[in-house]
Amino acid sequence: MAGNSTPKDETKGLLRGRFSEATDAFVEAFTASVGFDHRLYREDIAGSKAHAQMLTTIDVLSTQECADIQNALDQIESEITTGSFHWSVALEDVHMNIESRLIELIGDTGKKLHTGRSRNDQVATDIRLYLRTAIDDLVSLTTELQHAILDLAERNADTIMPGFTHLQAAQPITFGHHLMAWYEMLNRDRLRLLDCRTRTNVLPLGAAALAGTPYKPDREMVARILGFDGVCQNSLDAVSDRDFAIEFTAIGALALTHMSRWCEEMVLWSSQQFSFVELPDRFCTGSSIMPQKKNPDVPELVRGKTGRMNGHLIALLTLMKSQPLAYNKDNQEDKEPLFDAVDTLRDCLTAMLGLIPNIIANVDTMRAAALDGFTTATDLADYLVGKGVPFRDAHEIVGHAVQLAVSKSCPLDALSVEDLNGSLTDAISEDVYQVLSLNGSIASRDHLGGTAPGQVRAAIERARSIL
Ligand code: ARG
Repeated sequence: MAGNSTPKDETKGLLRGRFSEATDAFVEAFTASVGFDHRLYREDIAGSKAHAQMLTTIDVLSTQECADIQNALDQIESEITTGSFHWSVALEDVHMNIESRLIELIGDTGKKLHTGRSRNDQVATDIRLYLRTAIDDLVSLTTELQHAILDLAERNADTIMPGFTHLQAAQPITFGHHLMAWYEMLNRDRLRLLDCRTRTNVLPLGAAALAGTPYKPDREMVARILGFDGVCQNSLDAVSDRDFAIEFTAIGALALTHMSRWCEEMVLWSSQQFSFVELPDRFCTGSSIMPQKKNPDVPELVRGKTGRMNGHLIALLTLMKSQPLAYNKDNQEDKEPLFDAVDTLRDCLTAMLGLIPNIIANVDTMRAAALDGFTTATDLADYLVGKGVPFRDAHEIVGHAVQLAVSKSCPLDALSVEDLNGSLTDAISEDVYQVLSLNGSIASRDHLGGTAPGQVRAAIERARSIL
């Protein structure tokens, strides 16, 4: 071990030169974050290496000292990765644990690393690096899931099902069209993640504790080394705001809100009552008492995770509310919600990625359900409009026809032309039966965003070319 020129008072502990007593044992445990922020070790080491390089170009460190620091940090990283690193709660957080080990390894040179830096800009840098990597991973997962949805939608571009409003059968649509709605939601979530990345990927280092540092740091150089797109423009803001973490968690909450809707549909559709789809056995669980049960636990759990994500969003918003500038210890509370938000979003996307490609559509059941509930009634009204009847009159004429069909317990297309016309019109003739068919109905919605199979295929093509 290299020499230590200034002995520290071991009886008081770390950073306690100005105190006359040691930290209270409860306070030590209460204020420590190493139990969770150890997850930032890679980012912390990368940030320290870049900082050391910069200190070398401004002549705070010699080339040899910089090399010693880089080598020792590499060694520490491998100690942590292989599990031989000793984490100490007394050393409070990931930053002090690593710095302390650095000093143990290379003595006075290690003590120079923190020149022109504070844990305040250090931790802000670490979290931004962490979140940037997390966003990149999540964007790839999201893209993969989008492809999975497109594949399933393509296989079901002609699969007819009832579309719902108020969960009542409303109009025929294709399953592919329905899936493309999921796709659109997820696509916006992906774009939001990418957008959040631009505000996350900005360098705080150089802000030091709050006011900057007298060493004239080359902040652009540090940003370049670490792959940041730019540097934070105000030192107080750099160390104190966590809006990027809040923004990310809001995106996560929205993404999970979307997934909770799909999951709700999977739960409904896989029930005996709907039987629209089969979920893969390996994604379902049994009951401890009812031998026949096949429970859709995975979509239910994803639906449930939405509450957890919303909780993290509220936690982070509340954490930031009313904090005076600049850094406050409150901000240490940003990590657990943020880490769990990342983990939860990753897990839920992974669960969807397992489920969605393996959904089997019960084509016949879906089609039969689309025939129920007079789902082509609007088509009949549109047909009458085509014959010159004003829409409100057409609506009333069709209402009477539906009433008659209800009383006869038959679908609309089982009514005769005379019954369909009733006493209110004579505009309906034999050609109406094509309009009342499911295929005729979906084929007629042949425009951008409509459910006609050709439009669904075109939407899939557009999506593939953008992804
Ligand atoms: N563990 C702290 C955090 O997560 C690091 C910054 C501490 N800075 C300070 N001045 N106490 O926020």
